[in-house]
Amino acid sequence: MPLAELLLAGLEASDCADLPAHRRVFEAIRRAILSHQLPGGAKLPSTRDLAIDLGYSRNTVLVAYDQLLAEGYVEARTGSGTYVADTLPNYLRQSEKEAAPQLTGQMPRRLSQRGLRLTAAPSDRYYEIQEFVALANDFSAFPHKLWQRLQNKYWRSPTAAMLDYARSGGYLPLREALAEYLRVSRSVRLSADQVLITAGTQQSLDLCARLLTDTGNMVWMENPGYWGARRIFEANDLNLRPIAIDADGINPDWMDLETWPRLIYATPSHQYPTDVVMSLSRRRLLLEFAGRRGAWILEDDYDSEFRYGGRPLASLQGLDTHDRVIYLGTFSKVLYPGIRIGYIVVPPDLIEPFRVGLSDIHRPGQMAVQAALSDFIKQGHFASHIRNVRGRYGQCRALLQHTLQRTLVAAARLSDADTGLHLVIRLPQQCDDVALVAEAWRQRIDVKPLSAYYLAPPVARGLVVGYGYTPLDETVPSAKRLAELVNRHIAATA
Ligand SMILES: Cc1ncc(COP(=O)(O)O)c(C=O)c1O
Repeated sequence: MPLAELLLAGLEASDCADLPAHRRVFEAIRRAILSHQLPGGAKLPSTRDLAIDLGYSRNTVLVAYDQLLAEGYVEARTGSGTYVADTLPNYLRQSEKEAAPQLTGQMPRRLSQRGLRLTAAPSDRYYEIQEFVALANDFSAFPHKLWQRLQNKYWRSPTAAMLDYARSGGYLPLREALAEYLRVSRSVRLSADQVLITAGTQQSLDLCARLLTDTGNMVWMENPGYWGARRIFEANDLNLRPIAIDADGINPDWMDLETWPRLIYATPSHQYPTDVVMSLSRRRLLLEFAGRRGAWILEDDYDSEFRYGGRPLASLQGLDTHDRVIYLGTFSKVLYPGIRIGYIVVPPDLIEPFRVGLSDIHRPGQMAVQAALSDFIKQGHFASHIRNVRGRYGQCRALLQHTLQRTLVAAARLSDADTGLHLVIRLPQQCDDVALVAEAWRQRIDVKPLSAYYLAPPVARGLVVGYGYTPLDETVPSAKRLAELVNRHIAATA
């Protein structure tokens, strides 16, 4: 096809209609080159001839040629004219040259086996935003104005350090403030250099999996357990061994105790999602076992700021005498999930490898946010925010528990831990908790099916009811609607 005809067709391409004339000419020639309709070495007409053929000014074509030249699509040969540059890779020259365009189009575009496994059953519908009234998240307890003021201090005229990568595990004053907070409120045994700032627990888990395991290593996973941790372990090709949960927390049987896991993932302060607090005897068993096996315990302490009665529970890390516990915390629950700041407390011998791993794999930053957060903690705002939201969530929990207890039939059992941001309604085995969740959603109630948190049978049925961020005035009517729905379902399936 003559060049002008080819280009005239290209000039009419719908996605170029809004472009200025020189840009349309450039695009038409560029596309003809990329699709090999204009092969390497082909001579382009003079700008004068092409302008006449296309019906544009010569200047328009000149600007288009200049741009093609600048981007390497064509080359000017002095005294001879403008030619399409030969940019085909060497290995595709000669005989394969012709096949190249078809080849690229036909090659399969599949994910890796790991990618296929990971994306086959997305879990994002179980994101733990902890709303109970659907789509009504109430973040008003977060002191936005104060937060903005603290951030402004660092953004008004930021120093180079504020705009740089976060080196050496993050902003030191924040790590110091966290070390102090964890020592006092969670009985964690640490110094500030053991604390590394991450982009949340998900990243902390990934770092642990990458640095402490090899493909196929075994990891003990609570069953039922936190899907976010499970996804990370799956993404790292680990061999997940489900360990049962009973009223005392994680409950390995004798066969489990024969195995050699590299990692043990646990939520001792408030098992996710069953709402169970791990007993002291189980804590000791776990520490003893990890010490003997050389396994690392990943203690995910995601919501222990929220304890509504009794004394705060000490962390598992604080009981550990073998330095086998890695403690993970997050600001997702206590501040807001999108802040994407968490922390990891590693034993002294892991500080350096974890610093290198964090920096080389994840290249963290957000120094100004870390600095503002450090001020937030040091100036006492964090402590008063915790008091404030604890009061508010405690009130919500009490309303929820009271309404559910009064309305639910006896066959539905309510969990009773006095901690965290969710509770569980246990249902008789014949109930279909997934169907119940779908039905609740139609009534603007967002709960999760307990059965979906299991890695392996036997699977218990129930509803996980998150209540952080729930508007207080909607709590009682929504709890009533939910309880009535559950009662009807139990009656229908009895
Ligand atoms: C058990 C558990 N761990 C950790 C987290 C927080 O993860 P991240 O810090 O990545 O937001 C959550 C959030 O919902 C959770 O439910």
